[in-house]
Amino acid sequence: MVASHAARVLVASNRGPVTYALHKEDGSLTAKRGGGGLVSGLSAIGPDADAVWVCAALSEGDRAAVERAAGERLDPADSGGQHVRMLDIPEEIFTGAYNGIANSVLWFIHHLLFQTPLEPIFDEDFRSDWAAYEAYNAAFADALAEEAAEGAAVLIQDYHLTLVPKLLRARRPDLRIGHFSHTPWAPPDYFRILPDDVAADVLTGILGSDRAAFLTRRWADAFADSCAAVLGASVIRDAGALTVTYKGRTTRIGVHGLGADADFLRERSRQPDVEERLADLRDAVGGPDVKVIVRVDRTELSKNIVRGLLAYGQLLRDHSQWHGRVVHVAFAYPSRQDLSVYVEYTDEVQQVAEEINEEFGTPGWKPVLLHVRDDFARSLAAYRLADVALVNPIRDGMNLVAKEVPVVSDEGVALVLSREAGAYEELGNDSFVVNPYDLRATARALHEALTLPLHERAERSKRLAAAATALPPQQWFLDQLAALG
Ligand code: G6P
Repeated sequence: MVASHAARVLVASNRGPVTYALHKEDGSLTAKRGGGGLVSGLSAIGPDADAVWVCAALSEGDRAAVERAAGERLDPADSGGQHVRMLDIPEEIFTGAYNGIANSVLWFIHHLLFQTPLEPIFDEDFRSDWAAYEAYNAAFADALAEEAAEGAAVLIQDYHLTLVPKLLRARRPDLRIGHFSHTPWAPPDYFRILPDDVAADVLTGILGSDRAAFLTRRWADAFADSCAAVLGASVIRDAGALTVTYKGRTTRIGVHGLGADADFLRERSRQPDVEERLADLRDAVGGPDVKVIVRVDRTELSKNIVRGLLAYGQLLRDHSQWHGRVVHVAFAYPSRQDLSVYVEYTDEVQQVAEEINEEFGTPGWKPVLLHVRDDFARSLAAYRLADVALVNPIRDGMNLVAKEVPVVSDEGVALVLSREAGAYEELGNDSFVVNPYDLRATARALHEALTLPLHERAERSKRLAAAATALPPQQWFLDQLAALG
């Protein structure tokens, strides 16, 4: 049944634009609005457009909010005017889908993270998680089918929701359906680690859309190659356009390289709370002659924080002239702490940082300043202060930090960038490009970045900022809508 307040534009993602905290003492709820490309992107169509965002309840507070909304949309005041339908998916289904499949299998596949001699193991537990993933995707398809007006455009996000396009098309053939992957796509040989039926389901799920889009051409090509290898689908590359045809249906493949939100960042990074943190950071770093290497990440296995620290240690070993003259400001914010490998990785990051401080530190100089508590204002302060930004992921869909630092930087920044980040396609020319596995090469790149003459650094940084802001989130979103027709 189509809802009476049917929407013309729908967005679906696991994490929504708002989350709730439940206060046990009095049962009250506080709403907290999220950020990110999708939130700013959707704002481009304005609060009066008939748009709704379908997402999952992630916390106890979210579940309470859904219960209070009694199956209806949430109060738009909580999400800055955005209409949100939050789904209270039974906890064991949600956990199997989110932790079991999305974070532990699909994320690992697309970022090449498995230690293959021992993992993955596709056993009975995997099959029960996969059944949960199917049920979770079906719940989204049901809600979207109910919320969408005749002929509406539906933009489905990411690896959590790969099955939704096909399920939704079966329910509502009238809709225009897009899928967007915010991660890399695995090369076909690696993608085929998945059991054959699961690999086929993921691909045919996404091919249920009219258009499947990616952050870079490289990930789009890898997806098309996987369709050819697993399904025997026919791939046509014609004057830059890419299509995949399978069983008589053609899906167009698009590329939209999400850029940094320059207006928001420039304004936000000059607010008093950022100024305050900038002053604190300057104090902690210890003087205007000390250079600063900054990294800011969620502590994800794909971010390569440990090798980044080891490379910094190598730099200090190779170039004693930097002793007392450089500080590595590393912010590694918590992510997915329900997964034990993430907890272990977070410990490893802390331990390696301590080891470097023990090996090289002196009473007047702490070589690594590591912070693990999330603080956006402090991240912006570090962006402004950075002489060098280190962005060295093993693999990354885009990496917005690489794009944000040059936009916010006070005096220009030298960027050390992994060639495996999506951002490399746009920023590679003005960066110090590294193979993320190669410590010595990364240490060398850090040294070159630190010694880059200031005028050249400022020039490069200006070009980086221009490339980084070429496609602001609002335009990124509107382009996808327009491409759906
Ligand atoms: C990263 C990825 C996104 C993904 C998100 C999920 O930011 O780039 O593609 O949607 O992680 O993170 P979460 O904290 O919701 O698991």
